[in-house]
Amino acid sequence: MKKLLAVVLCLATVFFCGCSGEDPHPLPGSSEDNLIVVGFSQVGAESEWRVANTENIKSVLSEENGYMLIFDDARQEQENQIRAIRMFIQQDVDYIVFSPKVETGWNSILLEAKEAGIPVIAIDRYIEQQGEYLYTAYIGSDFYKEGEIAVKWLEDFLEKQGRAEEPIRIVHIQGTIGSTPQLGRTVPLEKATERHPNWEITAQECGDFTKAKAYEVMSSILERTKDIDVVYCENDGEALGAIDAMEEAGLKCNPEDGVIVISFDATRLGLEYTLAGKIALNVECNPLQGPYVDKVIKKLERSEYYDRISYVDETYFDYQTITREMIDSREY
Ligand code: AHR
Repeated sequence: MKKLLAVVLCLATVFFCGCSGEDPHPLPGSSEDNLIVVGFSQVGAESEWRVANTENIKSVLSEENGYMLIFDDARQEQENQIRAIRMFIQQDVDYIVFSPKVETGWNSILLEAKEAGIPVIAIDRYIEQQGEYLYTAYIGSDFYKEGEIAVKWLEDFLEKQGRAEEPIRIVHIQGTIGSTPQLGRTVPLEKATERHPNWEITAQECGDFTKAKAYEVMSSILERTKDIDVVYCENDGEALGAIDAMEEAGLKCNPEDGVIVISFDATRLGLEYTLAGKIALNVECNPLQGPYVDKVIKKLERSEYYDRISYVDETYFDYQTITREMIDSREY
């Protein structure tokens, strides 16, 4: 089903934005009545992971696959996401898909979508519990499990190194504060420091999931101390920025006789660093969520049973077991 008003408004938006020549939202010809119109609000383009996520959603929710996708990049601003969702409601799209920047602050706009009868599918990041009845489905990562995998790996690794009782000084570079990946990856680490009195978080700063910010905060941490055993970064971009800062300051990033760097995402570039031993452990965060979204929408279209919460498949890679073949076979 396609809603004509959405197409008209979409084309009007493109026209008034002064688009020249090629039309990014071409009318799909005689099949247009069959297309499912989806408004997708992406949080931004802060990381390699995010870019892969956007590309995957765009490639799956394609015209050939029965969709008309209206894409909006919120450039890391929650207000922009709220504005985009309101525009999708005005356009009377069939579905709204969005990756919420943070977990809170969505109730009013999601209530508007619910009143308009438009199903909302949250992807990647979660929405706080009290807003749960306001969305139709959630598809994304189990970020808490990712954090637990990282912490367990560190415990085992230190044990094998014979350092289980030694003082362990940890620098913690966090992602966007209040986002699900930040909360999920932070809590297991903080809990672990309660179990291990010899573990100390000597610095905890926000790197906002970007290489540049992580480089900046790591550089300023290094001015205060170079006595660091572990750097726990909440994504690959942050790990790359922190490694640059440490190497410039003369520190070695190597789990055997240097700093143990832990990261999340397992993008191709992050895994190159893992193969080189600079990132000791890389916990996967799977951005290929398009097929899951497609499956849920198609089931909703057919009024079939669907899973309200779907977690994407994920694994992890450590520097001792990763191979070149594993990296080469990755899709992102
Ligand atoms: O929400 C997923 C996280 O956001 C990824 O770990 C990170 O790279 C991204 O920017």
